[in-house]
Amino acid sequence: MSQIKLKVTDIEELTPNIKKFEFSALDGAPLPTWEAGAHVDFQINDQMRRSYSLANKPGDTGQYTTAILREENGGGGSKYMHDEIKVGDNMEIVGPPSNLFPINEEANKHLLLGGGIGITPLLAMGHRLREINADFYLHYCTKTKEETAFYDEVVDIFGKDRITFHHDGGEPSKGINLSQVLSNQEDGQHLYICGPAGLITAARDASSHWTEKSVHFELFASLSSEDTGSGKENVVNDDGSFEVELKQSEITFTVPSDKSIMEMMWEHNVDVMYACEDGWCGNCKVGLISGKVDHRDEFLDDNDREEFLQVCVSRAMPGEKLILDI
Ligand code: FES
Repeated sequence: MSQIKLKVTDIEELTPNIKKFEFSALDGAPLPTWEAGAHVDFQINDQMRRSYSLANKPGDTGQYTTAILREENGGGGSKYMHDEIKVGDNMEIVGPPSNLFPINEEANKHLLLGGGIGITPLLAMGHRLREINADFYLHYCTKTKEETAFYDEVVDIFGKDRITFHHDGGEPSKGINLSQVLSNQEDGQHLYICGPAGLITAARDASSHWTEKSVHFELFASLSSEDTGSGKENVVNDDGSFEVELKQSEITFTVPSDKSIMEMMWEHNVDVMYACEDGWCGNCKVGLISGKVDHRDEFLDDNDREEFLQVCVSRAMPGEKLILDI
């Protein structure tokens, strides 16, 4: 996939550990267009690629804005962005923005639920929902007001009467009451959740009675991130090992019997979005170039399975090598 060169035009500290970054095209040309919920894949260096959601007004081809949480225990991408990147630096993204977290604009109502840095794509959604005159409401969960990124922008975009801020002081039991907030799905209402895996899991549980395909969620994962860890055990099974080639990343590795493709991607600093780590959320979908897959997810349909796989659970059929489009 082609690389697009960007220039860092502004950096702002939003909270003690979240910075906002703005980019424009290095050559001054319009950037590829995008929709609310989209993310871009930054090539941090030869070994590291990181995905960050866009927060500015969807379709803005003059700049891309994102926000990044500095993760002490992460894989190094966020620390690099916080500590090394300066205004005026050049960076590259891999291909145009892509969107795995789109708004369903046919919905009657939209309920947005953001936790911490998960506000980033929801901001872009707020812009769009306001633009199309939709009926929408935001619940935004953080520890304190001081640790609330984009506080003023959120108020500007959503309007005071369309937001509830939940500050839990670091104790989730003092935060949002999900079973109350999500107890009643209004007719035609859709839910969009973005934040740490714990919030996504809890919100998904609390909305399990909502209608099919009305609950959408996204989590961006950096390897070993404590903020995004779901606490689930690694995949362990009795399967054999097999070889995987990541075509775009130009990396080939062997997946041993006790690890998933996703875990091996993390070991090679290749990021992939995830949430459930169990084959049902769809976040870790990756394109398949060749090889026969032993599909073990509950997300893809038969047509999709010819072109994609869920790398958290699926494996190669015996004796097969998989070539993936990432
Ligand atoms: S992480 Fe949910 S399907 Fe793979």
